Amino acid sequence: MSFKQWYDAHLMPRLVTFACGQGQVMKRRSQLVPLASGDVFELGCGGGLNQEFYQTSKISSFSGIDPHASLLDAARERARARGWDGNIREGVGEDIPFRDASFDTVVCTFTLCSVDDPQQVMSEMRRILRPGGRLLFLEHGRAPDPDVARWQDRIEPVWKKIAGNCHLTRPIGAALRGAGFEVEPLGQGYLPKAPRFAAWNEWGVARRTGL
Ligand SMILES: C[S@@+](CC[C@H](N)C(=O)[O-])C[C@H]1O[C@@H](n2cnc3c(N)ncnc32)[C@H](O)[C@@H]1O
Repeated sequence: MSFKQWYDAHLMPRLVTFACGQGQVMKRRSQLVPLASGDVFELGCGGGLNQEFYQTSKISSFSGIDPHASLLDAARERARARGWDGNIREGVGEDIPFRDASFDTVVCTFTLCSVDDPQQVMSEMRRILRPGGRLLFLEHGRAPDPDVARWQDRIEPVWKKIAGNCHLTRPIGAALRGAGFEVEPLGQGYLPKAPRFAAWNEWGVARRTGL
């Protein structure tokens, strides 16, 4: 195994989990994740950082996928600590291993930045939602300030290589609208104390339209 393969498989997922577990990020999760209800699916559940915020009494079932097998044990452990088992398995958002209209809520936090094909992933999230189902999103992406956006363009080619394919320049709300969601923004802004090129966040509720 080359250093790059070892880094991508073992060290990078842990560094990313550490960064995603910082106080201000957890605060934003705490405002969004408790809205999940019914049959819930989490895309890119990683090491399970959202687990502590689910209101288990409102949830009928929990499923999650992530391509990084090395993170899934931590996700399962965090789920068990909440008193549920959860159906947590390896998989990618481009081909979600669940039937059409299986879920009331899809949760997607800091994941659309890292997938290979965001259009396909958004289409898959839409497919597995029941009519009227909700996608709860909290993502980082392209900043509205031209100076910051220029830096994002410059840094992204290197950043995505060291940060698990994390892109800095992807639009968030606009992309979800383009994928057939009706977006109710709940907030947006830079994460305090984070480098601005990686700090622009948007979060909200996106409803499946068209049915
Ligand atoms: C920045 S981490 C965020 C993890 C978690 N969602 C959170 O909020 O802490 C990005 C996650 O996306 C996952 N990921 C990368 N490519 C993916 C894909 N194609 N489909 C689903 N998840 C993917 C990574 O394995 C990683 O766990």
